[in-house]
Amino acid sequence: MIALEPNLKNRPEWINVRVRRQDGPGLEPYWELHKIQYEPELNVISVLQRIAAQATNSDGRKVAPVVWDCGCLEEVCGSCTMVINGQVRQSCSALVDKLLQDNPDELVLEPMNKFPVVRDLMVDRQRLFRALTRVKAWVPVDSYYDMGSGERILRDTQEQNYPLSQCMSCGCCLDACPQYTKVELTKKSDETDEEFEARKLAEFDKDFVGPHAISQAMLFNNHPTGKSLAGERLEALMGPGGIAACGNAQNCVAVCPKEIPLTTSIARAGRATTVQAIKKWFEK
Ligand code: SF4
Ligand code: SF4
Ligand code: FES
Repeated sequence: MIALEPNLKNRPEWINVRVRRQDGPGLEPYWELHKIQYEPELNVISVLQRIAAQATNSDGRKVAPVVWDCGCLEEVCGSCTMVINGQVRQSCSALVDKLLQDNPDELVLEPMNKFPVVRDLMVDRQRLFRALTRVKAWVPVDSYYDMGSGERILRDTQEQNYPLSQCMSCGCCLDACPQYTKVELTKKSDETDEEFEARKLAEFDKDFVGPHAISQAMLFNNHPTGKSLAGERLEALMGPGGIAACGNAQNCVAVCPKEIPLTTSIARAGRATTVQAIKKWFEK
């Protein structure tokens, strides 16, 4: 069992927190040191709340509060993901006592590397969600009236699908993936908002879709109603930035906080796209 609190006599009076800050999209990042009084059983979100309440850095200089994102506070929404002491993870479930056991000197907080920074520790994960629309990661509905109970799902299928359904779109797997490179575009002076949005989406659609989207495609292709779009999902995975872009480095599966068997999904997608390609060849 993991001891969550360090030995009493080793408890520090103060915690040094080094934050990589950035005042806006595309601006130069810089480091800022904060000091907060030690309290037992803090998580990284509560550390950030104390930093915001102090509104000063470690030199006592007044600074703007550090910006971060969060929602559920129980590792379900994925929005609080950041790099903590070099490891991409959720800040709501990152316990300070445990982090201080591993590195008593300081906590180091950085935004995720593969997404454009909005401000400080808050990033724009639009590309992650766009990838889910690329693979149609949903069960289609053609009406909202009562259509009776759906098809029964076999226990084996349920057991295969449940782990994949736990994905919270946090982005850890994408941040760790060597094939997923950052795409950050800036609006041109002569571009309208709509034109910029269209250019951004077109750029996202050329790049690697990511392991989370491959896994969600496998989840919905294995669902009795969802599988009606199976061919379209496989076509998306066979296109630019699809399954062929995966280098099989397996970093993704190592960092997924929900322990989703991403490499198993990638292997399943590889087989399914091969079958789809052969089927298409015979249909010619
Ligand atoms: S297995 Fe594929 S998706 Fe996972 S980290 Fe490696 S390249 Fe990225
Ligand atoms: S697959 Fe895991 S790491 Fe990737 S987005 Fe989903 S929950 Fe996060
Ligand atoms: S706040 Fe939702 S996962 Fe951390």
